Amino acid sequence: MLLTGLLDQQVVFFGGKGGVGKTTCSAAFALAASRRGRRVLLVSTDPAHSTADIFERRIGPLEVEIAPRLSALEIDGDAEAKHYIDVVKRDIQKMFSASVIKAAYKQIEAAAASPGLVEVALLDRMIELIINRQQVYDLIVFDTAPTGHTLQLLRMPEAITTWIQALVKHRKALLEIDRGTETTTDAAALADPVLGALERRHDRLAQLRAIITDRSRTSFVLVGIPERLVIEETARAAEMLADTGVDIGGLVVNRVLPDDLEGEFYTSRKAQERTYLDEIDRRFSRLRRVRIRQLPRDVYGLSSLAVVSDHLVGPPTR
Ligand SMILES: Nc1ncnc2c1ncn2[C@@H]1O[C@H](COP(=O)(O)OP(=O)(O)OP(=O)(O)O)[C@@H](O)[C@H]1O
Ligand SMILES: [Mg+2]
Repeated sequence: MLLTGLLDQQVVFFGGKGGVGKTTCSAAFALAASRRGRRVLLVSTDPAHSTADIFERRIGPLEVEIAPRLSALEIDGDAEAKHYIDVVKRDIQKMFSASVIKAAYKQIEAAAASPGLVEVALLDRMIELIINRQQVYDLIVFDTAPTGHTLQLLRMPEAITTWIQALVKHRKALLEIDRGTETTTDAAALADPVLGALERRHDRLAQLRAIITDRSRTSFVLVGIPERLVIEETARAAEMLADTGVDIGGLVVNRVLPDDLEGEFYTSRKAQERTYLDEIDRRFSRLRRVRIRQLPRDVYGLSSLAVVSDHLVGPPTR
């Protein structure tokens, strides 16, 4: 069972526990798709620049072509967060009076220090890419940060949407009161900048949610290795994705030991691995599963990546 079917999706996420092979698999998958004629954007959210290492070249925050029909970019969460704060401040400046702005800035600075901000900023950038770059690319592949994190990101549109809806309601109620005292017209209510900004944001999140929960467009590939802790985390991730309504395109079981190894160490290692592989087959029987064997070397460079591509989606037909 290969992931070949996923090559026709519009958005594919790769996620999993740290160090299991997310970056390797997402790069190999993106490369395979581009070699089959699709225009692909590979997006990395990894601050360690692993994607750049694999392709043996610098990538950075702007889209660069790294192979025919394959472009890549790196999103830096901290830089996005800073940019995000700047934009929010600018918006506020347009909307409010000087005294309100001063108080608001205090709030913003506090928010800037909160741990969730980087995630919100990443989400914003992802939305931008998914919504705005779909005309240019047939497929966007996300190499995501370790599981919990990313899943929260995918669940976020829902949470934020509810929150924004509450804010909109609140704002509308305020405008109602205004109308009573100052005879504000409907047109003025419509032109309310706060309401406008909230509603635009709500629309974008709704759009994102529609795309990521559309099984014919978006899939999430779980990557793991045959080890106890990874299996448990993968099971939790699978459950969360199912809850969120995101299609699980498959489970990659990476670093499976070759069969022909000799010696007591490997025999015992392989025996343990076999029980985990069986467990994976049993517990994830409903998912498409792909095994990648442990290669003799780290994976970098196009030819080495192509070996992983073949494991994931089969060799190119041409
Ligand atoms: N099948 C494999 N055989 C041999 N080496 C592999 C295999 N898969 C991945 N590797 C190597 O394992 C290391 C970790 O892989 P990778 O960077 O893809 O993991 P990751 O899940 O993205 O890690 P992180 O959570 O740190 O982002 C890399 O050096 C990679 O070359
Ligand atoms: Mg990585």
